[in-house]
Amino acid sequence: MLGDLTAPVGTTLDRFIAQKQEQFPYATGELSQLLRDIALASKIINREINRAGLAGIEGASGTENVQGEAQQKLDVVADVRFTRALSKGGETCGIVSEECDHIIETGNKHAKYIVTIDPLDGSSNIDVNVLVGTIFSIYRRRSPIGSSPTEADMLQEGTEQVAAGYVLYGSSTMLVYSTGYGVNGFTYEPSLGEYFLSHPKMKMKEDGKIFSINEGAYNTFPEGVKAYLKHCKDQEYSGRYIGSLVGDFHRNLLKGGIYIYPATEKYEQGKLRLLYECNALAFLAEQAGGVATDGYQRILNVKPTSLHQRTPFFVGSKKMVEKAMELLKEPQ
Ligand code: AHG
Ligand code: MN
Ligand code: MN
Ligand code: MN
Repeated sequence: MLGDLTAPVGTTLDRFIAQKQEQFPYATGELSQLLRDIALASKIINREINRAGLAGIEGASGTENVQGEAQQKLDVVADVRFTRALSKGGETCGIVSEECDHIIETGNKHAKYIVTIDPLDGSSNIDVNVLVGTIFSIYRRRSPIGSSPTEADMLQEGTEQVAAGYVLYGSSTMLVYSTGYGVNGFTYEPSLGEYFLSHPKMKMKEDGKIFSINEGAYNTFPEGVKAYLKHCKDQEYSGRYIGSLVGDFHRNLLKGGIYIYPATEKYEQGKLRLLYECNALAFLAEQAGGVATDGYQRILNVKPTSLHQRTPFFVGSKKMVEKAMELLKEPQ
């Protein structure tokens, strides 16, 4: 009746971040603060998403973003919330967001870090009450402290990420992140307003039986992708596709699987964006023992040339991604 009073007190996200910082005696605490700022913004978004239907913030906003997509009201709300939290937090000098065509200057010219962000991933799923997410990457700036952030700060290879993560607003809300020492997942306890460590040291299975791809554009897939899909079906793997990248990635991280968004006739470079979708998830996948490529090369080694650059994306269990790459190389 009283529940399990002997259960150990969980580790909160704040405590976990503080403990990690203590392990690095020269750390100044700025990255820790930045991670807390992101967590705080995610709690605000979580609240907005949960009451979207009641608060009149479902549906399209009537505007179009730089991607040529109709923005949803919550795309805009999430973008504003994150931009404000990162600006007020003081540790970020510049932001690249899916929802904004140019670099956002926060005014914190003395801050060390830059953030690239997909404020709301899977936004077409909001109106049907299916999970959505937030994806972020953190880099050290390259421009001198005290100056305005530049494109060179933003166009860094994924290998340069200091930290990356995502928030999943699903049946539970979770924050999953890595600072390059493994991946840890935290579940939000809304009545306490705290994230608790629920998934320590996450590892992706070396092989899996789930493939996630939108087959609607099958006719224009590269032949190697078609061959890989045949392989999946010959093996009677399960097809699972939410249409929210964060959700599809998270499931495959926990269960083993592959997510593919290949080049298609409509999206010649794939649909997903390198800076604020693929790099973060590639970093997490590798930290969990998985693999992320554009079909031919490691995502984290791609040198970005523009802020909203797209790339084909193959991410997931090592053996599955390697098999897909092998078939892409073969003349069909
Ligand atoms: P976003 O909502 O941030 O624009 O991202 C949408 C992405 C991703 O979440 C999802 O996996 C993919 O687009 C779905 O695209 P299709 O509808 O073409 O399958
Ligand atoms: Mn979008
Ligand atoms: Mn997205
Ligand atoms: Mn988005």
